[in-house]
Amino acid sequence: MRRTLIASTVLLLLMAGVPAQAQDHQGMDHSMHGDHAMPMAAMGGDPRQLVNFPPEMREHTLANMRDHLAAISEILAAMSTGHYAKAARTASTRLGLDSPAAAGCKPEPAAGAPMMSRPGDMEHRMGKAMPEGMRNIGLEMHTAASDFAAEALKATGINNPKPALAALSRVIQQCSACHATYRVQ
Ligand code: HEC
Repeated sequence: MRRTLIASTVLLLLMAGVPAQAQDHQGMDHSMHGDHAMPMAAMGGDPRQLVNFPPEMREHTLANMRDHLAAISEILAAMSTGHYAKAARTASTRLGLDSPAAAGCKPEPAAGAPMMSRPGDMEHRMGKAMPEGMRNIGLEMHTAASDFAAEALKATGINNPKPALAALSRVIQQCSACHATYRVQ
């Protein structure tokens, strides 16, 4: 009798309280318990914020991303063989503030410019669709890539690639920061 009571109490607890507790226990999305209004991942406890891009924007983002990774890989190969100027060029043209991919993360140019008819239009639409926090991290990443390029150009003169490598690690920190917070699918 007593056992039955305990068993049914346990069962009730399982049905009522445990799912929420288990989520806490596993370090899942705490935002639902907190004050801030960040939407919780729909299912499965993914704590990243879903950014709901239309399909072609999502494709474009992921293609950009794959190029970001390829660029990092080429930069590391160049750094490891002492081709610092080449590493700087890759960073400037593919990741830096003046690269095409940075356009959507930069602050808006003067109002009134016809956004939809410009080349790089997709980047600008993405800039508008991104949450501000995401765009800020993107801007940090592009800024860090330009900083890296400047350091890499100095590496030959000072015969020391370490400051450039430190700058490169700050670029990758921004990649990770964004990936930890946002997803598009
Ligand atoms: C401002 C945000 C942001 C920054 C900065 C960022 N990413 Fe991403 N990246 C994303 C998002 C969002 C995804 C999609 C993740 C998801 O939906 O699961 C992604 C996905 C990727 C993917 C997977 C692509 C695919 O085809 O699935 C790679 C590779 C990647 N990023 C590399 C990088 C690298 C390398 C950097 C830094 C040089 C970087 N990203 C910087 C937001 C960012």
